[in-house]
Amino acid sequence: MSTVVLIGSQWGDEGKGKVTDFLAEKADLVVRFQGGNNAGHTVVVDDKEFKLHLIPSGILYSDKLCIIGNGVVIDPAVLKAELQSLIDRDVKIAKLLIDKRAHVIMPYHRLVDEAEENSKEDDKKIGTTKRGIGPTYADKSSRVGIRVADLLDEEEFAEALKYNVDAKNKLFENYYQAPTVNYEQIYQEYSEFAELIKKHAADGHEVINDAIENGQNVLFEGAQGTLLDLDFGTYPFVTSSHPIAAGACLGAGVGPTSINNVIGVAKAYTTRVGEGPFPTELHDELGAKIRQQGAEFGTTTGRPRRCGWFDAVILRFSARINGLSHLAITKLDVLTGLPEIKICTGYRLNGELIKTFPASLKELAKCEPVYETLPGWQEDISKAQSIDELPQNARNYLNRLSELVKVPIALVSVGPKRSQTIVTKDIFYNDGDGKTWHTPRL
Ligand code: GDP
Ligand code: IMO
Ligand code: MG
Repeated sequence: MSTVVLIGSQWGDEGKGKVTDFLAEKADLVVRFQGGNNAGHTVVVDDKEFKLHLIPSGILYSDKLCIIGNGVVIDPAVLKAELQSLIDRDVKIAKLLIDKRAHVIMPYHRLVDEAEENSKEDDKKIGTTKRGIGPTYADKSSRVGIRVADLLDEEEFAEALKYNVDAKNKLFENYYQAPTVNYEQIYQEYSEFAELIKKHAADGHEVINDAIENGQNVLFEGAQGTLLDLDFGTYPFVTSSHPIAAGACLGAGVGPTSINNVIGVAKAYTTRVGEGPFPTELHDELGAKIRQQGAEFGTTTGRPRRCGWFDAVILRFSARINGLSHLAITKLDVLTGLPEIKICTGYRLNGELIKTFPASLKELAKCEPVYETLPGWQEDISKAQSIDELPQNARNYLNRLSELVKVPIALVSVGPKRSQTIVTKDIFYNDGDGKTWHTPRL
């Protein structure tokens, strides 16, 4: 059996889509386990670019099985549009299953997300994607959410929708002073979506556990990143799900003993979209230069991403929270041309050096990064196919990152395309027959 959990180890947008697509070649199943269409995962194959929000990034391989797990929140309109856009582009897509326990994003969730953000003072705004993610997970926790299984049962759906529309309309009228929603309209619209979803609905955990028991390879594709995790992220400036590795167990229905390896995807620098503290953020021209060279604009909302140096305190935190077995370092090419590159190795807080990531946002905001400076490289690295082809300074930089994080690097990405990838350790390795891929803990 071979199971690999791939997660974002910073604030999202680390290149999870690219790395998932690359590793998916050797996987049989690709599973999304949390988040929803707040995610924007970019995959570039040859000259074609695909931006996936809800569908797993394994979808571009027609011989794979993709699963949207129970931990994901599903906007059916997005599902429909995303499937259609792949069909319109003549992509022979993988088979897609949707877990019946996954919760459904309803129109009122998007409206609450928007109203809640608008009602907050500027310094309290989270900067959500306004896709209704938080309110859908909130309803799940409040035990009033609507799951795929409920949507597919006419009676159940009508009853649950009635309850929710009445409750939300009271909120819109009396609290948010916003327009109300219409039961009939939503019922009609979602009954049509149910017809589409019915074709894909399944017990995801059954399929995944069967595959594991049959020795197939399963790749779990995380969305967002560790610092956006509801428990371990920079709360309250987080998302409402669990993007950390443990989320794969919860959001797909597999036990921790079924996971072989955990890959933390990390950019060679740091970015963040939305609000919240960010110790190594560069507010100067250099930050703007990295944003421009790295095309750092949100895949989902188009917002400019805040940019800063690589933060080894964050990565070390992430390595432990996720139990990382490997790192995948992306966007190394973006740093080409800089005379020197900084790595944050600790924070100075109230005059003291700390190496841990503080829970208190007030403390985090006061943390001053302590940097180590390494020489940069000037050579174009976007065509490198092996570590040996990288300039010595780029290799030194990678080695230092790995040393500070205490996790070996399995993959280095030097450009957005599938082909611009250097493998340093085979995550799925072959046993000799060319067909069976294994991934014991390396
Ligand atoms: P995700 O949300 O983690 O999947 O990441 P996004 O797709 O939101 O953002 C990553 C962006 O960087 C996308 O535009 C990718 O095409 C691009 N990208 C991924 N890896 C590399 C790389 O190694 N070099 C460069 N220059 N771009 C990359
Ligand atoms: P991928 O999978 C980066 C951020 C939002 C906001 C916070 C909460 O592409 O890496 P939400 O809409 O989830 O309630 O917003 O989380 N956020 C992301 N940032 N990448 C993402 O996904 C994100 N998904 C949500 O900007 O700060
Ligand atoms: Mg993204």
